[in-house]
Amino acid sequence: MIVKVPFLDVRNTYLELKPELDQAVARALDSGWYIFGEEVAQFEKSFADYAGARFAIGLGNGLDALRITLMAMGVSEGDEVIVPSNTYIATWLAVTQCGARPVPVEPDIDTLNIDPQRIEQAMTSKTKVILPVHLYGQPAAMGPILELARHKGVQVLEDGAQAHGARYRGTRIGGHGDAVAWSFYPGKNLGAFGDGGGVTTNDAELAERIRTIANYGSKVKYVNEVCGLNSRLDPIHAAALAVKLPFLDEWNARRGEIAAYYRKHLQDTCVRVPTPQPDCTSSWHLFPVFSQRRDALHARLKEAGIETLIHYPIPPHMQQAYQFLGFEKGAFPIAEALAETELSLPIGPHMTLEQAAYVCETIASFQ
Ligand SMILES: Cc1ncc(COP(=O)(O)O)c(C=O)c1O
Repeated sequence: MIVKVPFLDVRNTYLELKPELDQAVARALDSGWYIFGEEVAQFEKSFADYAGARFAIGLGNGLDALRITLMAMGVSEGDEVIVPSNTYIATWLAVTQCGARPVPVEPDIDTLNIDPQRIEQAMTSKTKVILPVHLYGQPAAMGPILELARHKGVQVLEDGAQAHGARYRGTRIGGHGDAVAWSFYPGKNLGAFGDGGGVTTNDAELAERIRTIANYGSKVKYVNEVCGLNSRLDPIHAAALAVKLPFLDEWNARRGEIAAYYRKHLQDTCVRVPTPQPDCTSSWHLFPVFSQRRDALHARLKEAGIETLIHYPIPPHMQQAYQFLGFEKGAFPIAEALAETELSLPIGPHMTLEQAAYVCETIASFQ
């Protein structure tokens, strides 16, 4: 029997909280205040508290959150930023949009995150920022990364787009480094009804610079201090995110149950499962598995009604967009191998263990 297992149905979180969300959106509409305002300020405060940071700034999307923070950190032409060789392209785009050069560092094969041991050798006198990504929801090794950054006098911006509610050494991602960039894209663990993003930081001056850059480079209307841009979190999204935020830990715990089930039941199958790190609690944004026969497995699961996705099929250095950086095939073999073997299984707060069991059985019977 075929059981339909969607990769993720973002509508489910809406349906779970429909009356509260409808009311919050109606309140935002009714207020007649459609840029900045109370809804945004309140969500920023709640999200900063949740993430353990002094400040949160709502922005238009996750890419802007990365780019604007790099700008606020003073990154510009001639600078270098350390990035993972395996990430979503947004991490790299933010760097090149500032005119700087992304310097890729390979991941640790177990954590799938940037390997802190390899960062130092990639640093030069031009390195301005280290930009680790908490990929798939599992926190990067912030202890060693921050220690190195402090020693070298460079800043750390974390890409937290996949890590809402994840914990590193017991503390939620949000206040470890100099700043964390967030995405509230609908499919994220905390998702809006459209594009949204933000930054958390403990640094008051950095927060102020981010706000200014995001608002046309202006603190006072029609007085422009720097060449900024326009990137703001809309009140409608802020109102919805504020309703969802108190449910995030519970939703992440449900993702964690699916992940634990997968890990247990996929142990002796043809796929390699991710290894949770002892000092980390993943947000399980994604559940990646790895197989040499990835494409055949992908097709088999599709036939069985199970939707899977690849994160990501082409590493940034192999993208046409980054040909100008001059990297050849083979330049980052770990990232390339991951791109050839990775498959993300369905996971989400509304997925059932029965669906997870069906996924595991289908993989176990894959020859
Ligand atoms: C790791 C990572 N960084 C950045 C982004 C960019 O976020 P957004 O789509 O909100 O611009 C995403 C999400 O798409 C992401 O997964």
